[in-house]
Amino acid sequence: MAKVTEKGLQTARKTIAQLLVCTGCCCGRTDRGNPAVPVDWMKNEWKMRGILKSVHLTISGCLGPCDLVNVVGLVGENETIWLGGLVHQQHFAALRDWAQETARLGEIAPLPDILRDHQFKRFC
Ligand code: FES
Repeated sequence: MAKVTEKGLQTARKTIAQLLVCTGCCCGRTDRGNPAVPVDWMKNEWKMRGILKSVHLTISGCLGPCDLVNVVGLVGENETIWLGGLVHQQHFAALRDWAQETARLGEIAPLPDILRDHQFKRFC
């Protein structure tokens, strides 16, 4: 049941951040010659390390910028960071480490160097 307070609609399932991992028409589509997205590995890592309640993991359909496979969005309260060209396991390991550090800190952790070079501007 939705809970409305003087501050508006409230959720009991707040998180520090949400990680949107694209597996749409292009990202992760090895059958189209694109690099894999280790979806099962990520789900297991999030579960085993107890990250889910701090950084929600969402495996999504197409996020739009297909030319930059593989694409993820790091959504926080004040900003969304877009990353593309994540083609190596170490990129996804860095996302896992970032999520774990975010959970540990209780706030969005700095982006590791290995991911900083993959940032792009999503909107005009
Ligand atoms: S399929 Fe990933 S951005 Fe379109």
